[in-house]
Amino acid sequence: MLRTHTCGELRPEHADTTATLAGWVDRVRDHKGVIFLDLRDRYGRTQVVVGPESGEANLAAAKKVRPEWVIQVTGSVSLRPEGTVNPKMATGGIELACEQLTVFSEAETPVFQPGAVELPGEEVRLSHRWLDLRRQAMQDNLFLRHRMVKLMRDHFDAEGFIDVETPMLGRSTPEGARDYLVPSRLDHGSFFALPQSPQLYKQLLMMAGFDRYVQVAKCFRDEDLRADRQPEFTQLDVEMSFVEADDVMGVIDNLVQKTAREVLGVEVPLPLPRLSWDEAMERFGHDAPDQRFGLEITDATDIAGDSEFRVFRGAVDGGGRVRGIRVPEAAARFSRKDLDNLTQMAIDAGAKGLVWLKVEEGGGLAGPVAKNLTGGIDARLTERLGGTAGDLLLLVADSFEVSCKALHTLRKHLGAVLELYDPKALHCSWVVDFPMFAHDPETGGWTAMHHPFTAPRPQDIPLLESDPAACRAVAYDLVINGSEAGGGTIRIHDSEVQQKVFGLIGLSPETARERFGFLLDALASGAPPHGGIALGIDRWVMLFGGLDNIRDVIAFPKTQRASDLLTGAPGDVDAKQLEELGIRVVMPPAAATPGGTAPSP
Ligand code: AMO
Ligand code: AMP
Repeated sequence: MLRTHTCGELRPEHADTTATLAGWVDRVRDHKGVIFLDLRDRYGRTQVVVGPESGEANLAAAKKVRPEWVIQVTGSVSLRPEGTVNPKMATGGIELACEQLTVFSEAETPVFQPGAVELPGEEVRLSHRWLDLRRQAMQDNLFLRHRMVKLMRDHFDAEGFIDVETPMLGRSTPEGARDYLVPSRLDHGSFFALPQSPQLYKQLLMMAGFDRYVQVAKCFRDEDLRADRQPEFTQLDVEMSFVEADDVMGVIDNLVQKTAREVLGVEVPLPLPRLSWDEAMERFGHDAPDQRFGLEITDATDIAGDSEFRVFRGAVDGGGRVRGIRVPEAAARFSRKDLDNLTQMAIDAGAKGLVWLKVEEGGGLAGPVAKNLTGGIDARLTERLGGTAGDLLLLVADSFEVSCKALHTLRKHLGAVLELYDPKALHCSWVVDFPMFAHDPETGGWTAMHHPFTAPRPQDIPLLESDPAACRAVAYDLVINGSEAGGGTIRIHDSEVQQKVFGLIGLSPETARERFGFLLDALASGAPPHGGIALGIDRWVMLFGGLDNIRDVIAFPKTQRASDLLTGAPGDVDAKQLEELGIRVVMPPAAATPGGTAPSP
């Protein structure tokens, strides 16, 4: 070994022993000819002293040392002199008096100092990821990830789950995003799709009798990226046979409790609260509601229906809704400009505007449209929303969907700016009974809200024919702090119901057979009732780590434009490779520059 201890290990009880440390130079200070080096590794930092007693050669070597050089130091562990003990450092009681300094590797002046307080922009961090990963915060994040994944694996192992790997090169699995495709060299014009999830493989494993499956699975989705989405992400993927929704949720409830206990030292009471999708949309306007704070939505459509106010009338007559939220004691906090900003936010979320009203002493309402709320409408609205003097009332009149979107946006914004919750608090819950189908604006038909292998509630099976919109699925999403941390369903295990659902989402029997014939055949050859779930591991680590950027829990993440700034992927390939694959690239007109690497068509 090139070291006897790590840089986080030495303590006063090691005093007067000899130790060898190796690591990166974090900081160099020259104090009148005595050189202090902070040596850093994954475990911590230790102060090394190189003085006249260290000898000429070591002193000369130490004078050359610069931050981020990798060195080895052998020396004697000594107690720090009175007054120089650093209580902030785990090793702050001692220092290593250098007897032999060896330089393993010099370093060019780094683009940024991993130990510096001020961080460079994220582009620099991503393009020099190896430096960024030297930072304590990033090391902590990846250790947390390691610990959490281990905890997950241990949990499922103890529950009798078996880890089975599934292919990366397969056929498209419909999870609602675009596929990443891999061309076949042997069969020009044919493509593999990287899995959006192992959904169908895990179902086939149930049909094969594996009963309880788990996998840490890489998934690939070519979709618009956000702060909590990556094109390549990791799921803790689970499937179980002979179970109902409660059984799957129960296994995850226990995992949530264990994780919160181990990672945060917090006791989460079980079972986790559940609310139906309908209730989530009514009360919070979103299917992954942040329930760390109130600001719940109240419906006032009936009151608005009695009003002459043009905005209310228009919405109600058009079959829409008038809903609002009460922001307690906020009237004085918001200037006219703030309220204009809130209005703009609602408009950006699709609303036509925002009615804001301040509740005055005595119960009257103030605001640009208050004068329109005649005939007692003002008092009834105030009462319905529970307004008292000093409150701010915000109302949106629109379709149910638009009012959900606008009020959810406002709620989220207000919860954060008014600091209505402890950012360290954890709120976990289930949203259940999702609709089976959503309208597809592109085709005018239906799409599966989760995926088309999801079972309808048994009592809703007749609705598949009579009223698909009303049909509810046996589906459950785990929501943590307003983020979808996992989602799953009980599956269809009946080939006929499966064909019916394929039909509803517009797959002709021929297409269904061509794409999913293997599933239909497997379903027709003895399929146990089964269901499962997938947890977003990246999101779990982000949420349990109290972070707001998914890239901070992934060693080598991609940017919002799905590129890897470190390696330059995606990048050009040789013309020969394309030729072997039978591929010609057609550049979009603006990007087509002469001399580009793409062969001209
Ligand atoms: P779903 O599509 O809901 O379900 O995905 C499960 C969980 O994966 C996480 N997730 C993501 N995390 C980071 N970046 C992304 N782009 C991304 N997309 C999804 C979320 C989500 O809750 N096969 C089904 C599961 C099942 O039915 O068993 C599936 O993939 O946390
Ligand atoms: P207008 O007459 O369109 O300028 O609207 C009058 C007020 O009502 C403005 O303050 C708008 O922001 C608000 N408003 C307009 N349409 C809606 C709507 N659909 N829901 C809520 N407020 C609205």
